[in-house]
Amino acid sequence: MSLNITFKSARTDKNPNIILTLFEGSPLGPQAKDLDKSLGGLIAHSLGNQPKFKAKAGQTLDLSAPAKSGLARITLLGLGKAEKLDALGAENAGGKLCAALERADIAEAALWLENLGNIKGLKIEDLAANLANGARLRAYKFERYKSKKGRKGDKDDAPTSLSKLMIICKNADRAKTAYETLSAVTDGVYLARDLVNTPPNDLYPESFAKIIKDELKPLGVEIDVLDEKKMQKMGMGAILAVGMGSARPPRMVIMRWPGAKTAKGKAAKPLAFVGKGVTFDTGGISIKPAAGMDEMKMDMGGAAAVVGLLKAAALRKSKTEIIGVVGLAENMPSSKAYRPADILKSYSGQTIEVLNTDAEGRLVLADCLTYVQETYKPQFVINLATLTGAIIVALGHEYCGAFVNQDSLWKQLNEASAATGEKLWRMPLDEAWRKDLESPVADIQNIGKSGRGAGACTAAGFLSYFIEDKMHWAHLDIAGTAWIKGDRPTVPRCATGFGVRLLNHLVSQYYES
Ligand code: BES
Ligand code: MN
Ligand code: ZN
Repeated sequence: MSLNITFKSARTDKNPNIILTLFEGSPLGPQAKDLDKSLGGLIAHSLGNQPKFKAKAGQTLDLSAPAKSGLARITLLGLGKAEKLDALGAENAGGKLCAALERADIAEAALWLENLGNIKGLKIEDLAANLANGARLRAYKFERYKSKKGRKGDKDDAPTSLSKLMIICKNADRAKTAYETLSAVTDGVYLARDLVNTPPNDLYPESFAKIIKDELKPLGVEIDVLDEKKMQKMGMGAILAVGMGSARPPRMVIMRWPGAKTAKGKAAKPLAFVGKGVTFDTGGISIKPAAGMDEMKMDMGGAAAVVGLLKAAALRKSKTEIIGVVGLAENMPSSKAYRPADILKSYSGQTIEVLNTDAEGRLVLADCLTYVQETYKPQFVINLATLTGAIIVALGHEYCGAFVNQDSLWKQLNEASAATGEKLWRMPLDEAWRKDLESPVADIQNIGKSGRGAGACTAAGFLSYFIEDKMHWAHLDIAGTAWIKGDRPTVPRCATGFGVRLLNHLVSQYYES
């Protein structure tokens, strides 16, 4: 069940579960005071008894309403210091609220958002919209494979899903409009998460390509699917090699959102996004250890983010032309699989000596990168990939490693990161790591020769061989951020959808005027 959110200027139902917002260090608003009076001072009394509740942003206090009050629960939601609250803070508070309501077994609630008039950075309608969007981001669930959904009252004590949230505030119409824009992006995040959570027996190159068509074509995105025959003809020897060991042949999917023509006729050059879509990574002949191999169903998180981004852009009717390219392949060991020692000819013409079949993502990306630059001459290329375990060693699951060859693109990405909370840390690109990839028998080799150090940097160095001179380029290694094991305020555990919000912000903030 998904979360239904409505905005009203006055209470229109008798929902017995009420949420009141409170700022740190500020008194209750007039409506909350009236309610408190009608409840015989319950709220003020409880606040006095619960000194740990300080109305910090996202902090909640859950009260039982007295008998005969007509109410069941009153949840106080802290919003922190009024002068510090911004859109991201409101979103996080909304996410924490959702989690608190579900923990308290509340499926439907009404939030009274009082206009206290002292919030510096945010209009009341934007506060409402961001609270709601945060709740929806957190409410995401992947229940497609559960025969019993998490309904309230299930005998097996299934968790409660928040299913209805009504927000009662001033300018409710404007709040609804603001929420709809945010919601388009969240729809993209949901799609990316669904794709990553889907198991590899159901998500493989062909089925992935079909989902992309089904999801994006109705929204006006043009889709072109290159199958293995087409790719053979074109000479895409790198992606083909990775997919060769699998009974499920590889695909490359090209998505194009046309954007709007500028008034002066000629449109600007498009923006290009490329995603690694290894639907399952066993390592191939250089096979991975058994423990934890199941996690490698998330090795298409880069492709999922690109598809989610295109969905968000299409739903918001972005004015900018956007190209998405995803390389889809399953990396399997078999009698048909590529081997260490094979020498491949990539679409760029450069030859690659394979020394480890588990360094497959860079091979898939190589042909996609060449194709997108050659075909579309974009303003920039940004690729996302769950590329290396080494980036997890370096940055853990909190930060995504960003390798960017141009400072102004980095500045924009860094600002988008701060605005969306999808954290980036800039990593080095260096000639030394390109040198490390020179092969004695081919143009380059797919792993560095100097051992295990700086694995994320040599991977980036490898990709740089497929970036044209002067092309602005960013490589985002999302191996640590595409999948998390614990909940975050607006990201429930498992697939995160990392990258959709970040890159949507980049596009809308810097490339739509
Ligand atoms: N898909 C993996 C990277 C990965 C690891 C993603 C953990 C998410 C979580 C990638 O294809 C891989 O296997 N990389 C190797 C590269 C090595 C062989 C040079 C790695 O990181 O060990
Ligand atoms: Mn691998
Ligand atoms: Zn991989």
